[in-house]
Amino acid sequence: MLANLANVSYIGATILFILSLGGLSNPESSRRGNFYGIIGMTIAVLATVFGPRVTLAGIPWIIGAMVIGGGIGLYAARKVQMTQMPELVALMHSLVGLAAMLVGFASYIDTSIVFSGAEKAIHELEIYVGIYIGAITFSGSIIAFGKLSGKISGKPMLLPGRHVLNFIGLALVIYFAYVLLQAETPAAGALALAVMTAVGLLFGIHMVMAIGGADMPVVVSMLNSYSGWAAAATGFMLSNDLLIVVGALVGSSGAILSYIMCRAMARNFLSVIAGGFGTEGGKPAVAGAQPAGEVSPISAVETAELLKDAKSVIIVPGYGMAVAQAQHTVYEITKLLREKGVNVRFGIHPVAGRMPGHMNVLLAEAKVPYDIVMEMDELNDDFPNTDVSIVIGANDIVNPAAMDDPGSPIAGMPVLQVWKAKTSIVMKRSMASGYAGVDNPLFYKENNRMLFGDAKKMLDEVLAALKA
Ligand code: TAP
Repeated sequence: MLANLANVSYIGATILFILSLGGLSNPESSRRGNFYGIIGMTIAVLATVFGPRVTLAGIPWIIGAMVIGGGIGLYAARKVQMTQMPELVALMHSLVGLAAMLVGFASYIDTSIVFSGAEKAIHELEIYVGIYIGAITFSGSIIAFGKLSGKISGKPMLLPGRHVLNFIGLALVIYFAYVLLQAETPAAGALALAVMTAVGLLFGIHMVMAIGGADMPVVVSMLNSYSGWAAAATGFMLSNDLLIVVGALVGSSGAILSYIMCRAMARNFLSVIAGGFGTEGGKPAVAGAQPAGEVSPISAVETAELLKDAKSVIIVPGYGMAVAQAQHTVYEITKLLREKGVNVRFGIHPVAGRMPGHMNVLLAEAKVPYDIVMEMDELNDDFPNTDVSIVIGANDIVNPAAMDDPGSPIAGMPVLQVWKAKTSIVMKRSMASGYAGVDNPLFYKENNRMLFGDAKKMLDEVLAALKA
């Protein structure tokens, strides 16, 4: 009876997770999607904790762990700044990897169920694969956390003969799988697992360290996918069907996102999976590259004048808008201009900010209507017919070098062609480079103006001048 109830709950939760993913594919339905996800997860947790596989004596332990884990999660989620969100997500992915590793070792040590023959081999292989994926996800996500938070340099670290090193690692992993299957004592098996874990951890570090600054978005979504597969592997080890399904959903949607990111960065999906991609062609990014040329500054009042006279305006937000928390003022300005009959639209680059959908989330928070928020491909042809394009704290995603300089580390990445508007205005605090560490020739173009200062402060001044 209890087992049937748990199964029905699992099916219900699975349907809710699928509906949740469907909802998250569109900003308008994303709230509903999130809601389905929350209900699905609540059902899944309740059905597991009170299901047939947990004894009464185990429940206080589980509840204790949930209170501690939930408390830490709640504290982290309340404390985190919007700009630290990508790092937090990377850290969360690392926990999924760590859980897969721990569950793997626990399943191997657990002697309550004795397997034999083919069943034993399958069980051990499940454990082996689970721990391996978990180890890569764990160490790779920790390095991604370091890179995203600036604790580790964004420059790619390329070891000599790294492909050979990867190949040796793979050969070791295959060999120790054989050792595990042949092991006569649990200690010998555990040793094989430990060596493979060390190789997996090193591979995760090596893979993400080799990624150059501008290519991090693909890594973020790829680790998202890996964390899903790690969860699915945990589901196999625990014989939990729901965890397998949910892990597969996260794993495959993360893989689709990685593919979309690859397309956005014009990178090759297969070389991403092998790690260390996007670094062979161009020279490695130099953090804080030296500016080369003269720029024309503009004041907030002059910016307001240009906007008043414009018929069409395209706003391109980037990471700096998130740092300055300028989205609300951006929307105030948008409302005012729209009331005056100006056609205002937003151009969103797929890798703007530091996490997928970063700009969409900020603009939705400020209540910007979805129908004026467009994707890069929908807007790029419209810049020549645009009076003013305003770049708010964006840099790499509007860098013409990606199109004009084949030697640039971001060569080939599609960008928003803001310089094709009659006038482009770039809002940032200094001449510093963006995440990829490359200089931006946009700043020196004849029709470009630089509005230097914190985006929020400058936009407040523009808004005041528009109202005056
Ligand atoms: P960036 O190229 O990083 O440029 C952001 C600019 O914002 C900086 O040049 C900075 O210049 C300016 N800025 C910072 N704080 C500001 C403030 N308070 N007010 C005004 N300006 C401020 O950002 P982007 O154009 O959005 O491009 C995203 C980059 O991040 C890409 O290289 C992408 O590959 C990478 N990345 C993306 C992701 C995802 S998934 N989206 C993940 C990891 C990495 P100043 O210092 O001069 O102000």
